[in-house]
Amino acid sequence: MKKWFRELYMNIMLKVVVGKRYNRGKGEDEEEETRSYGEVISEWFHYLGQFLVAIALPFLDWLDLGGYKKIMKRVARELDYIVGKWLEEHRRKSSFDNVKEENDFMDVLIQVVEDDDDVAVTPFQTLIAGGSDTTTVMLTWTLSLLLNNPYALRKAQEELDTQVGQDRQVNESDIKNLCYLHAIVKETLRLYPATFLNATKVCTKDCTIAGYHVPKGTWLIVNTWKLHRDPNIWQDPCEFRPERFLSPNQRGVDVIGMDFEMIPFGARRRRCPGIGLACQTLHMVLATLLHNFVISTPNGEPVDMSAIAGLTNAKATPPEVLISPCLHATIDA
Ligand code: HEM
Repeated sequence: MKKWFRELYMNIMLKVVVGKRYNRGKGEDEEEETRSYGEVISEWFHYLGQFLVAIALPFLDWLDLGGYKKIMKRVARELDYIVGKWLEEHRRKSSFDNVKEENDFMDVLIQVVEDDDDVAVTPFQTLIAGGSDTTTVMLTWTLSLLLNNPYALRKAQEELDTQVGQDRQVNESDIKNLCYLHAIVKETLRLYPATFLNATKVCTKDCTIAGYHVPKGTWLIVNTWKLHRDPNIWQDPCEFRPERFLSPNQRGVDVIGMDFEMIPFGARRRRCPGIGLACQTLHMVLATLLHNFVISTPNGEPVDMSAIAGLTNAKATPPEVLISPCLHATIDA
């Protein structure tokens, strides 16, 4: 499932940012000997999440233990080359075709920054990295939690049957009516936020927080995991209980960074700019999957919920899912 979710999100992100599909890299390249961009991006992701000894012990940097630095430089060069080619292609197209029907992110950026290549290329990496791994990880945890909680899974499927029925596919306008599905997504974002430690911030002036003096220049890293499992805020904090978001106490708690007891996307000005896209796609993908398939674990065993250290909070083992179409799954979208 991890592979499917990843390909789906890479497709969404590449389509939005540069108008390409992820798993159609080869053949789209003019030079056949070039590796497909899917392969290069996969490798880039792999090394992006690596923890290097030299990060903790900078004086060992020159040794390049494991040869990671050398490989990372090679992959970065390959990626720069590919993104550079896309940039050229977009510029060529926009000079021929001033009134394109559908603009992707790069088209828009070119119109704004014109000749500045660095500005046009840099957001590519931020958006692809920020948008695909996080959402893939979230879907993987949601599915795993549902497999371990058959009651919640059944309730979500019953809600889909009531709100959407069995004669058609889910569409975007159904999502607002799926309250239990929303509660499931919120509860997953609480228990397994895509990043446990939010991006590092630096204090721009001296301040006092909870009675502690914090001098200007201090690095601040918010521990979302701890906040989201604080027993002073959440009852039975480690339990998966979507119903808590339907109760009068927590019904109003949102994830967009206004309610500080739960900030899976960060808060205030530096919060995640992809909240809208992430929430829309998470609900839509999950609803479509649960509406179309009966899911269970192959041997009836509970799914292992351990995580691994990395750029995002990824599940240590890929979830294995027995998946079979529901009777109504053949209906066209
Ligand atoms: C469930 C999915 C996602 C989660 C949980 C998530 C979470 C986060 C978090 C916690 C941050 C750091 C915020 C902070 O430091 O305060 C962040 C930053 C960011 N996210 Fe997301 N994100 C998700 C999806 C997306 C998507 C779909 C996109 C792209 C469309 C995206 C693009 C970004 C970017 C560009 C930043 C950096 C913003 C900056 O440095 O100012 N994210 N995200």
